[in-house]
Amino acid sequence: MTRLFLLALVGLSAVFGLTTSVPVASREDFHLWVKENGKTYHDEKEFERRFAIFLQNAQEVAAHNAGGHSYQLELNKFADLTFEEFRDMILMTTPQNCSATGQKKPRVQSRVGPVPAKKDWRDRPGVVSGVKDQGHCGSCWSFSATGCLESVTAITFGAAMNLSEQQLIGCAQGFNNHGCEGGLPSQAWEYVKWTQGIESEKDYPYTGKDGKCAFNSSKTIAYVRDVVNITQGDEDGILQAVGTLNPVSIAYQVVAGFQHYKKGVYSSKLCHHDQEHVNHAVLVVGYGEDESGVPYWIVKNSWGPKWGMDGYFWIERNKNMCGLAECAAYPLPPDDK
Ligand SMILES: *[C@@H]1O[C@H](CO)[C@@H](O)[C@H](O)[C@H]1NC(C)=O
Ligand SMILES: *[C@@H]1O[C@H](CO)[C@@H](O)[C@H](O)[C@H]1NC(C)=O
Ligand SMILES: *[C@@H]1O[C@H](CO)[C@@H](O)[C@H](O)[C@H]1NC(C)=O
Ligand SMILES: *[C@@H]1O[C@H](CO)[C@@H](O)[C@H](O)[C@H]1NC(C)=O
Repeated sequence: MTRLFLLALVGLSAVFGLTTSVPVASREDFHLWVKENGKTYHDEKEFERRFAIFLQNAQEVAAHNAGGHSYQLELNKFADLTFEEFRDMILMTTPQNCSATGQKKPRVQSRVGPVPAKKDWRDRPGVVSGVKDQGHCGSCWSFSATGCLESVTAITFGAAMNLSEQQLIGCAQGFNNHGCEGGLPSQAWEYVKWTQGIESEKDYPYTGKDGKCAFNSSKTIAYVRDVVNITQGDEDGILQAVGTLNPVSIAYQVVAGFQHYKKGVYSSKLCHHDQEHVNHAVLVVGYGEDESGVPYWIVKNSWGPKWGMDGYFWIERNKNMCGLAECAAYPLPPDDK
C-alpha cells in the first residue's frame, strides 16, 4: 500500500518535474537492503548515517531513471556509500602514467581494416573468465590486466584460466604499480614480461589487501612476450584490436552516479576525456549498437557479478567517453609453437 503510494508520487514527480524531497525509499526498504546485502553497522548512529545516505542515493536513482536517459541506475551493493567514500575505497586516487612517455601523442587515425559490425568475446567458450570482485582495494588495474592476459592466452593456446591479481598487487611495484592504491594494466604486463610469468589465481589467491610478494617462479602458467599500447585517443585502434584480435584493457574516469549503474549505454557530460583523470581500469570484451543506433563498448568490470548487467556495463563508443581511449593496451602472448 505505502509502496504503491510512493511509486505514484515518484510518477507524479516525474510528470511535474518535482525531483526534490519526494520520499522514494522507506526505512523498511533500507532494512531489506541491509539484509539482502549482508551489511552490519557497529552502532545505531552508523546505521542512521547509512540510512540517510541510502535515502539520498534513492532520490538520485529515482530522478535519473525518470529522466529519459540511455542508461538506468539502481540501489545496488554500493547504495549506502557517498561517491567520496566509494572513490576512496575502490577507485584509483592518483593520476596514472598512461602512455610510455606521458606525452600526448598526435591523434592518428589507425588504418582500420574490415571489422565485424558487432563482437562479443564471451560467445567463445573459455576466452573470458567469470566476473571477479576487487572488494575494497584500488586494484582494478590488476583485474583488467589478468582479464586481458587470460583472454589473449586462451585465444592463442585454447586454455581457459584464472590468473593471479595478488601477484601483481604484491610484486609489480617496480613498474609504477601501487597495489591497492592503483596501477596500470600495461605496467602490470611489463612486470610479467620481466619476471617471466604469472601464477594462477588458485596458487596465488586474492586477499584484497596489499601484501609481501610471494611469487614462485616454478608455478607460472601464462606469459607476456610484449605489450602493445594503443595510441592515446585512438578509439578506432581499440575497435580494430577487439574486432579482430582479442579483448583490450582500458582505463577511464568514474564520476558520481556510475557506482549505481544498472543497465543501458552509459554516457556522461560530467566526466573528463583526458588521461589525467582516469581512475578505473576495466576490460573491453566486445561492442555493438543499441536499438536506437547508439554504439557502445561491452565492458567487464571487477565489482562482482551482481553489479550492473551480470558484472558488465555498456559505455558509449566513438566519443572517447570519460577518456576510455587514453590508456588502452593489450599483451602479446609467447609465440604459439
Ligand atoms: C607501454 O606503456 C608502458 C607504460 O604504461 C611502458 O612501460 C611501455 O614501455 C610501453 N610499451 C611500448 C611498446 O611503448
Ligand atoms: C575461474 O574461477 C571461477 C571462480 O572461482 C571458477 O568458477 C572457474 O571454474 C575458474 N576457471 C578455471 C579455468 O579454472
Ligand atoms: C609516473 O612515472 C614516474 C616516473 O617513472 C614515477 O616516478 C611516478 O611514480 C609514476 N606515477 C604513478 C602514479 O605511477
Ligand atoms: C615453489 O613451487 C614448487 C612447485 O610447486 C614447490 O616445490 C616449491 O616448494 C615452491 N617454493 C616455495 C618457496 O614455496
